[in-house]
Amino acid sequence: MHPAIAELPRHRLFAEPSPLHRLEGLERALGGRVELWIKREDLLPLAFGGNKLRNLEFLVGAALAAGADTLITSGRRWSNHCRLTAAAGAHAGMSVHLILSGPPADATDPTRYSPAAGLEAILGAAVTQLPTADRDAREQAVAAAADRVAAAGGRPYVIPVGGTGLPGVWGQVLAADELLAQATEPQALPDTIVMPSATGGTQAGLLAGLRAVGNTAAVHGVLVARTDEELRPAISATLDALGQRLGPRVQVDDVELDPSQLGAGYGIRTAAADEATTLLARSEGILVDPIYTAKALAALIAGVGSGRWDGQRVLFWHAGGTPGLFEPLDGPPGQ
Ligand SMILES: Cc1ncc(COP(=O)(O)O)c(C=O)c1O
Repeated sequence: MHPAIAELPRHRLFAEPSPLHRLEGLERALGGRVELWIKREDLLPLAFGGNKLRNLEFLVGAALAAGADTLITSGRRWSNHCRLTAAAGAHAGMSVHLILSGPPADATDPTRYSPAAGLEAILGAAVTQLPTADRDAREQAVAAAADRVAAAGGRPYVIPVGGTGLPGVWGQVLAADELLAQATEPQALPDTIVMPSATGGTQAGLLAGLRAVGNTAAVHGVLVARTDEELRPAISATLDALGQRLGPRVQVDDVELDPSQLGAGYGIRTAAADEATTLLARSEGILVDPIYTAKALAALIAGVGSGRWDGQRVLFWHAGGTPGLFEPLDGPPGQ
């Protein structure tokens, strides 16, 4: 492990690497033009798994090192990061307060019922649901929650939206190390990794981790929330911060961002993502979610169809999020 990481406070949430395996059924369904593999971040062991558990190891570690007893974070009502913060807090014996921004699901309407709040209640988190998705309102609610905790004698630690930035993304640098260690036997080092990118932290961490040890695999980030213009500066800032500790900085033109699957925006289904979901389910028996991973998979399928990756070994980064399958979401016309 890189010395910059070894000395950071870390609360271990899992002991085993997430599985890495071949996708022969999907490979056949796509005409055998590429060798396909999958990294099963969805199978990390807490609360339906997902990539954000890696960030939370370092965030909870930092919170405990700072003497905090309460984690406060925020996100949209389907946020995997929020559910996993509830799980990580429970694991570490900390209180958790979540600020979820709108649109709220409607518990009185069975077609608008959101399962996420139910999972967070089981995990013991206190949830505040805002009626709006306005970012300022969310930040104010987070600050107010921190003040309330402190006024009651608690010690709050605020985690940014998505657990992104440092120190959380060190977990993604470690994911790159884990992949490289796992992929040498059998020979499974990818030429290209295809993954969903929302706040960009996972992509920045993976890219920095690969380049730090000289691996040149392309990391193809499929935009699911923000546009290239919005996201590139955030990824660049994270790469700067990581580069200062890891050594050479990743060049910003090494960051591949694919806008083709964003559709009408974050959390809105697309027909291509729905088709990708059924293709993977029916060729492999593996489920993806409509908000993040199905859109990344749709980009992978489109890229294979176009011949872009012919003859390559392509790795699908299954970042998790499967509870999103049960969320009432807006969809493409006719659905
Ligand atoms: C399942 C899933 N995939 C991908 C992402 C995107 O990760 P990042 O915010 O680091 O870009 C998230 C973020 O919450 C997620 O929950």
